[in-house]
Amino acid sequence: MISKNIKETEEIAKVFLDKILKTKNKKRGALVVGLSGNLGAGKTAFTKLITKHLGIKGRVFSPTYVIMKKYPLKKTEGYKFFFHIDAYRLESEKELLHLGWEEIINNDEHLVFIEWPENISKAIPKHSEFVYISSKDNGHRNFKFK
Ligand SMILES: Nc1ncnc2c1ncn2[C@@H]1O[C@H](COP(=O)(O)OP(=O)(O)OP(=O)(O)O)[C@@H](O)[C@H]1O
Ligand SMILES: [Mg+2]
Repeated sequence: MISKNIKETEEIAKVFLDKILKTKNKKRGALVVGLSGNLGAGKTAFTKLITKHLGIKGRVFSPTYVIMKKYPLKKTEGYKFFFHIDAYRLESEKELLHLGWEEIINNDEHLVFIEWPENISKAIPKHSEFVYISSKDNGHRNFKFK
């Protein structure tokens, strides 16, 4: 799916969110989404649009320096917390243990979005969803879901 601008990305985020929320009954543990793409591809921008659709109020900052941000969910059936994780500065899965990783991903009321999942690939559950974003020379973004 090609997005020409943030507005179109907002539509793509909505389609993706509706799709993954329907997988609820099949899952065990958190619903985990890995977001891949180059620096500046639009992983944080996409996540912010997801939080907007989820009704999370206020500013959502890139968690590059804090690694993880947790937001309560009030209107999303079946989910109580949204986690936004940026693994860019993590060198291995081991660093996740300080963050209480097992509890985060074993709770089926958690929705977990992770930028740079390749840095912690061993810690990403097998049945996770994936979004691949690539930016093109003209500023358009290509989105692929898996
Ligand atoms: N779909 C889009 N259309 C136009 N501009 C976009 C789009 N997505 C992101 N941008 C812009 O690109 C810039 C970088 O985006 P963003 O910070 O989301 O990238 P990122 O993939 O999270 O980068 P990083 O790897 O550094 O975390 C921002 O200024 C953002 O507004
Ligand atoms: Mg980012």
